[in-house]
Amino acid sequence: MIEIAPSILSADFARLGEEIAAAERGGATLIHVDVMDGHFVPNLTVGLPVVRSLARATHLPLDTHLMISEPGLYAEKFVEAGAQMVSVHIEADPHIHRTLAAIKKRGAKAGVVINPATSLFHLEEALQFADYVLVMSVNPGFGGQEFIPTSVEKVRRLRRMIEERGLQTRIEIDGGIDQDNIAKCASAGAEIFVAGTAVFGDGDPARSVRELLAAAVQMV
Ligand code: DX5
Ligand code: ZN
Repeated sequence: MIEIAPSILSADFARLGEEIAAAERGGATLIHVDVMDGHFVPNLTVGLPVVRSLARATHLPLDTHLMISEPGLYAEKFVEAGAQMVSVHIEADPHIHRTLAAIKKRGAKAGVVINPATSLFHLEEALQFADYVLVMSVNPGFGGQEFIPTSVEKVRRLRRMIEERGLQTRIEIDGGIDQDNIAKCASAGAEIFVAGTAVFGDGDPARSVRELLAAAVQMV
């Protein structure tokens, strides 16, 4: 099932509730929350209090992307704060099996994230423990970056890996997704599309989400 997960990073933080409601009117079924610590990535964003408030402001599931060092110390707290999906960078966590298990035990979906230069080989063992894999199609840290084209082939290889193992793992893609590249990513096997600039960049999130959904099912 194709889903658009608008990233609030590109929204107006003073009007988050309205921005999310507009995205939902356009057909968004998840809300992507980028958590950055100024250490794992060179930027700072939001944390637990904002997730708590968002959980009260929307009934859409919160898809929380942790770009933080030592995610194992915080992952469960994000579930308690109201996130239904929590993803953790494999580059940041030597104990990712334990972290994924803890997220699931609290009742949320657990995701593994891989950076553009992280090989799929690193998923060899972790894949079977994840509900979804988030493929980064930019280097994490900032919205508005250009899509890295080799990500399409990476998604295709990952889809094959999942099928060969008979797993149900979903593929999410994040970074530089727009109306021009979404169909290619969908046909390669991605199902969940994070979009910040493409949703909130032009002031009409409802229309932008509708257009992304329509573009995703175009033949390529
Ligand atoms: C980047 C974040 C993304 C970002 C996407 O570090 O993980 O979720 O907000 O923004 P766009 O769609 O503008 O690339
Ligand atoms: Zn993200």
